[in-house]
Amino acid sequence: MRSRTLPLLLALAATTLTSPLPQQKTGLTAASILEISPSTSSCANSPAAGECRTAHQAGPFINISFTNFGIRDFPTQAALLSLILYESGAFKYSKNHFPGVPGQGTRNMQSPEFNLEYATWLATVCANCGISEVEVRRAEGEGVEAVLGLVNGDEWGLGSAAWFWSTQCDPTVKQGLREGTQEGWEAYLSQCVGTTATEERTAIWRKAMALGSW
Ligand SMILES: *[C@@H]1O[C@H](CO)[C@@H](O)[C@H](O)[C@H]1NC(C)=O
Repeated sequence: MRSRTLPLLLALAATTLTSPLPQQKTGLTAASILEISPSTSSCANSPAAGECRTAHQAGPFINISFTNFGIRDFPTQAALLSLILYESGAFKYSKNHFPGVPGQGTRNMQSPEFNLEYATWLATVCANCGISEVEVRRAEGEGVEAVLGLVNGDEWGLGSAAWFWSTQCDPTVKQGLREGTQEGWEAYLSQCVGTTATEERTAIWRKAMALGSW
């Protein structure tokens, strides 16, 4: 992956909330992730070669994605982290393996069409994200796996849930997430992510919400 100085998108945090919400003091830490998902402590014996990241490795990229997209409130951050932990199998996977849909991936396991939209967004809306329109067009010509490859490094792969929230969820869903209710969480899954709130998903969200802040 590229090495660069973070944060990258600060200038783009245009969707900043207007309501006065408590600012997170430290931001998302590895310690918080470990409390929610203890298996993120290690990548020893991880199932998919090269795809696993630990809480210490992943945490800073998720935290910076919240800053980049102006996500300041704890309940929204907790929901997005919960989605990532569920979809990536606690950071063990960055691509869909079950059943193995080509081009589906990043840490919220986006479908190929969203990965193309994400890559295009990074190339056109973000001036300094290091992906050019030429690269996106070339990858598009090569196929869905090439497009996924453009956005599946740690920096963008761990930031995709924040991008998806920012660009795909309507204001009502966002408001519901900020309220931190289970109803809001379920509406986020059904109305924005496009899935249902299973007990397994909600158990992770409950553990995250139980931390109260980070
Ligand atoms: C999270 O990001 C915020 C804003 O950029 C920063 O102030 C904070 O130190 C970060 N926290 C961690 C634990 O990386």
